[in-house]
Amino acid sequence: MRMTDKNEREQVKKLNTLKVIAEKLNEANELDIMLKEVLHELLSLIGMETGWIFLVNNSGHYTLAADVKLPPALTWQDKKPMCEGDCWCIERFNNGRLKRAVNIIECKRLENAIEYHWGETNEVTHHATIPLRAGVENFGLLNVTSPKKTHFSSEELALLEAVAFQIGTAIKRIKLAETEQKMALMNERNRLARDLHDSVNQLLFSLKLTAGGAKEMTDDEKMKDMLSYMINLSQEAASEMRALIWQLRPQWLEEGVAMALMNYGKVLGIEVAINVDGVLDLSPEIEEVLWRIGQEALNNIQKHANTKHSTLNIIVKNNSVCMDIIDQGNGFDFSKMKGTGSLGLASMKERTDMIGGTFNLETAVGKGTKICVSLPI
Ligand SMILES: Nc1ncnc2c1ncn2[C@@H]1O[C@H](COP(=O)(O)OP(=O)(O)OP(=O)(O)O)[C@@H](O)[C@H]1O
Ligand SMILES: [Mg+2]
Repeated sequence: MRMTDKNEREQVKKLNTLKVIAEKLNEANELDIMLKEVLHELLSLIGMETGWIFLVNNSGHYTLAADVKLPPALTWQDKKPMCEGDCWCIERFNNGRLKRAVNIIECKRLENAIEYHWGETNEVTHHATIPLRAGVENFGLLNVTSPKKTHFSSEELALLEAVAFQIGTAIKRIKLAETEQKMALMNERNRLARDLHDSVNQLLFSLKLTAGGAKEMTDDEKMKDMLSYMINLSQEAASEMRALIWQLRPQWLEEGVAMALMNYGKVLGIEVAINVDGVLDLSPEIEEVLWRIGQEALNNIQKHANTKHSTLNIIVKNNSVCMDIIDQGNGFDFSKMKGTGSLGLASMKERTDMIGGTFNLETAVGKGTKICVSLPI
């Protein structure tokens, strides 16, 4: 009888855990905050002390997304031991062998902590590792433990797995919402570009024509000068508007990123020789990144390189796409660039990093400049 009572209490506790976690996940809209809150909640519900969540991107790079009560041995220098290096759970995840919740025999990070005397480990040595998944998509892993805990029962693992499924589904929901927002933003930009093109641009054109007509009708030299000035101004405004529209509405939507960059080059007066290898069947997200980076690279060529020629190579491989933008212009000394506050190169690198790609710059004074980005697809 007593045994049944105990079982029932356990059962109720488990259900309560699942309910509280589901509620937490349901109300969350931001990934980082959600993971932090849910980890806190989970640990207190299951009576464990320490936990952390790694998110892993498509190319296998991991980031520490949330952590609770890590021992000092893992938190020195801004949690350096948790942000770099390999460990068995990440390795297993990346090999596709982490399908279920498991007892990780020992934690390599903690082992290293002891071997290299990184500090107090608070007697934490082992942890359970649970993949965060939704359907076939894998987002990362959840690790939980407590001091002196070396083994997790199959019941504990089953509960953790159920919670991890909930977290995985919530991650997917938030990611979908983010994509939706991006699409909405892109549509809004396209609308704005269309409107600018159809209204302001046409008005500027009419203004230029009218001023031209008026100039023909007058013999007053002063008036002619003023009208010429108006013609030039409206021409300039139209050019600026055209560049602005281009920035807002990349026509790659219809023609692909290579053509779009070639056409953008035309707007800037830079010839772009294109070489494409492979089929450019890229996601809108990747195309947007290539487009923005290419655009800034061409802006830089026009502003700084003192040449009118450039080359654009795009190579699509099995799981990556590489883009080079090359000019044979001035080149520059990159080591002198630090602290100048210019944003172009920095934002190219940021955009690449954000989707787990690599960014490279080769340049030297008098030797031209080559920008290479490689993005996972
Ligand atoms: N293709 C290039 N050829 C020669 N110099 C370049 C080239 N690209 C960049 N540079 C040099 O690197 C500097 C930094 O470039 P970056 O794009 O970061 O800033 P910027 O173009 O000066 O300003 P912005 O923030 O508007 O982009 C430039 O000021 C220029 O001196
Ligand atoms: Mg720039």
